[in-house]
Amino acid sequence: MLTRRQLSKLGVAAAVTAVATATGAANHPSPKGPFSVPLPVPSVLRPELRTATHDIYRLVMREAHTRIASGGDTRIRGFNGAFPGPTIRAKRGRPVIVQQVNRLDTPVAVHLHGGHVPQPSDGHPMDLIMPGASRAYLYPNDQPGATLWYHDHAHMLEAENVYRGLAGCYILTDEAEERLPLPKGRYDIPLLLRDAALAADGSLVYDVHDIGKRSTTMVNGRATPYLRVAARKYRFRLVNVSNDRPFALKLGDGSPIVQIASDGGLLPAPVTVDNVVVWPAERAEIVVDFSRHRPGESVTLDNLAAYPGENPQVMRFDVDRTAVDHSRVPDRLRPLPALRTPTVEREFVMTTDMAHDRYLINGRPFDMDRVDFRVKAGAEERWTITVPEDTYAMPHTFHTHLAQFRVVDRNGKPPAPEESGLKDTVAVLPGERVRVQLRFTSYTGRYLYHCHMMGHSAMGMMGQFEVVR
Ligand code: C2O
Ligand code: CU
Ligand code: CU
Repeated sequence: MLTRRQLSKLGVAAAVTAVATATGAANHPSPKGPFSVPLPVPSVLRPELRTATHDIYRLVMREAHTRIASGGDTRIRGFNGAFPGPTIRAKRGRPVIVQQVNRLDTPVAVHLHGGHVPQPSDGHPMDLIMPGASRAYLYPNDQPGATLWYHDHAHMLEAENVYRGLAGCYILTDEAEERLPLPKGRYDIPLLLRDAALAADGSLVYDVHDIGKRSTTMVNGRATPYLRVAARKYRFRLVNVSNDRPFALKLGDGSPIVQIASDGGLLPAPVTVDNVVVWPAERAEIVVDFSRHRPGESVTLDNLAAYPGENPQVMRFDVDRTAVDHSRVPDRLRPLPALRTPTVEREFVMTTDMAHDRYLINGRPFDMDRVDFRVKAGAEERWTITVPEDTYAMPHTFHTHLAQFRVVDRNGKPPAPEESGLKDTVAVLPGERVRVQLRFTSYTGRYLYHCHMMGHSAMGMMGQFEVVR
């Protein structure tokens, strides 16, 4: 949750006022408003084959056309040509194999973000799928249920590839989670959030530097859509798939939001928040209860972190029917694994090198041939991430592959409850110092860590470690 102070630090104080004004109007939607297209829910991918032990999928990356807003058709790069890609639903203990076919004219590498994955299947940029080629990725699904996502990771190309559409949701569930009385089935919906700069003819304009022009926000690939909902509880899986934009989401009627999960899955207990923040690559799962509304009423989802002058409304929920609802949010969700005493401490300093148009970690840009440090399999480590306050300092989102971590403290203080669960991506604002703790498993080999503002990682803000026995 962002406080007013943190928001003003982001330079979005003006938008907070804009939200207050806009939401007043939102209760009386005009027929011509921005909410003219229904929210698409990405289709759930069907396996090509189910063997006794594995589910086998196939995805073809190719160009296609979609309609984001009313301006015109948009050419995109999509998994199966979809924008965003189809959702893969997996269950803990049942491994998945995804055969990825590259029919684009750019090399790609497909990474399962947040996944505990053996090195050859991690989508390391040294393992490129060249145009016309394909590669099979094995996902063991040996981790607790979580909302993961898959996206391109070809170094220096990833920012544009993901911007043009190479991202999709991967929902992993587990038995304990399925037994909880949370909203399920069609009341469990992923909302993939992002922005883009759209030209008048509908085409996507990609400029790594001019992120301020990306003023079209989208949910599941559509600009400011509406969703017809029943007057009951829904589980929404928020996934920020945008390159560089944070969202701080608040319901237009001001009612509280119950957050139940973060990047790595369920929180120990639900947390009631006024707004829910997702930085690029972060996930947050929320339960929204529309039973406080009568059919015919609407409520918007507003972005408190909208850029000044922008429409802060991200989408609208239109309550159109009543429904029985046996779901509820239990007081206890999933206990967190205990922290052990860390045996290794590491520091990561994230800086901007304006003179050379690069972004650095510990003073260095990414080098595919350099291993930045070695980690012992099974080790428990504590990492400190800082963004020094200087002229060019800006927020960064630190992400590591392979392991979920826990935030130990932020600027010396314990993290907020919604930031206390399992995470793989954490925002660090200028002048901040965030400590996280993580445990490595038996998987060995080279894995990445980087800023997940994709413009930054493409311009060097990335490193790699090697897990050794
Ligand atoms: Cu979304 Cu290197 O990851
Ligand atoms: Cu990742
Ligand atoms: Cu960054």
